[in-house]
Amino acid sequence: MEKTTIKKLLGDYKKLIHHDITVQGWVRAFRSNRFIALNDGSTINNLQIVVNFEDFSEELIKNIHTASSLKITGELVESQGSGQSIEVLAKKIEILGDNFFEEMQTTILQPKKHSLEKLREQAHLRFRTNLFGSVFRIRHAVSFAIHQYFNQNEFFYLNTPVITGADAEGAGEMFGVTNFDLNNLPKNEEGEIDYEQDFFGRKTNLTVSGQLEGETAAMGLGRIYTFGPTFRAENSNTTRHLAEFWMVEPEVAFNDLEDNIDLAEDFLKYVIKYVLENCKDDLAFLDNRFAEEQKTKPEKDRAKEGLIEKLENVIEKRFKRVSYTEAIEILLNSKENKKGKFQFPIENWGTDLQSEHERYLVEKHFESPVVLFDYPKDIKAFYMRQNEDGKTVAAMDVLFPGIGEIIGGSQREERYELLKTRMQEMHVDEKELWWYLDTRKFGSVPHAGFGLGLERLVLFVTGMSNIRDVIPFPRTPKNAEF
Ligand code: 4AD
Ligand code: MG
Repeated sequence: MEKTTIKKLLGDYKKLIHHDITVQGWVRAFRSNRFIALNDGSTINNLQIVVNFEDFSEELIKNIHTASSLKITGELVESQGSGQSIEVLAKKIEILGDNFFEEMQTTILQPKKHSLEKLREQAHLRFRTNLFGSVFRIRHAVSFAIHQYFNQNEFFYLNTPVITGADAEGAGEMFGVTNFDLNNLPKNEEGEIDYEQDFFGRKTNLTVSGQLEGETAAMGLGRIYTFGPTFRAENSNTTRHLAEFWMVEPEVAFNDLEDNIDLAEDFLKYVIKYVLENCKDDLAFLDNRFAEEQKTKPEKDRAKEGLIEKLENVIEKRFKRVSYTEAIEILLNSKENKKGKFQFPIENWGTDLQSEHERYLVEKHFESPVVLFDYPKDIKAFYMRQNEDGKTVAAMDVLFPGIGEIIGGSQREERYELLKTRMQEMHVDEKELWWYLDTRKFGSVPHAGFGLGLERLVLFVTGMSNIRDVIPFPRTPKNAEF
């Protein structure tokens, strides 16, 4: 007998009607000792199993509860009841493993509404819930679509190191990597820790970005992208930050800033469209959840559009493209700024934008995703290409409703002398990054790239509001359980 997933069965059952089939899964509900709603994770939809209790021992029936794991063989028939197209008339039921009934009552597996905080405390069990099933199936679809997009567009998937000596962003937010005995650190003559004796013979850390290595590869392969875990020891306990997140970083030889923005827009739209077309059941569930959640909010904080509607609008409209200078004008003249409604008031050209400013531009002013470009050079990283005005660099950030920054990127400084000078000005160690500078010596070309935070995109697509709920095992300050 063929084992099948519930998704396959529900999608294509016609030829199996009146055949015996075998399914395996977990009990979501057991009504009247007669109807089991079985779920195997392949889809949000359950399969109804009809149990005629005269056919089974009392002992077996007594041991079937919510969360029990079962293997069931039975005849597939068209359903008599409403609410499902097919059901299985059970002939054989096998309980596959333990289910500690008493303990189950205190877990999130107990079928009732649980807070997201409680679901997070039991992150190892949350895959069994409808909500997290949908979120993680969609996370998979997003990742798959990302690879598909780049493959179709002739990019090569490049794996950059997790352990590195470089601080690509120059922000110093790194987790060190060492195999020293921390209670007995070797010191050099100056009394400083002697990293020459460490595993790699130098100071190393977990990567904050694969960009610099990615650039070296783009200087030979042309179009590459990285897709891997990224680590930042920034102590920001927000709903948008993780200490470990996944970043996608394309890098393209011969692209300028405008090409880079075009790529980012096309890429985001492709992935969102893919999810709209391929995750209909999960999106319908999340759309409903999103609508329910809005009802609990005060009128003024409610989203103007439903989740699916929001996704459809994003793929239809052209993103607004606005220079940093224009954005500052808009913010300076905004009612919010004049009335002191921003936590960080905008005072002058040159200040860095906070999430509240980004969201004002996207949600209130333009009511559209916005791409900001040409930022002041002093608030951006050393590798960005300097513009003619001497004040700005060819940077770009894509800002999304409800999220703020989802992508950050730039055209890169390909001119050796200018890059070297900028590194000196910004105290970036030339000796550490000799190999990066080297790529500007032998056939340097204009090039550009960006980084997408995977979790921020998954947040947007699922309508969840906390980034901890879209990564299976979140790492945040004071939290590395599981
Ligand atoms: O803007 P960022 O810092 O850019 C870079 O790292 C560049 N090297 C990218 C490049 O040009 N190749 O980060 C890129 C994106 C952000 O826009 C955001 O979506 C995400 O990464 N991100 C985070 N996501 C979750 N938690 C954090 N702590 C994040 N920091 C950045
Ligand atoms: Mg950024």
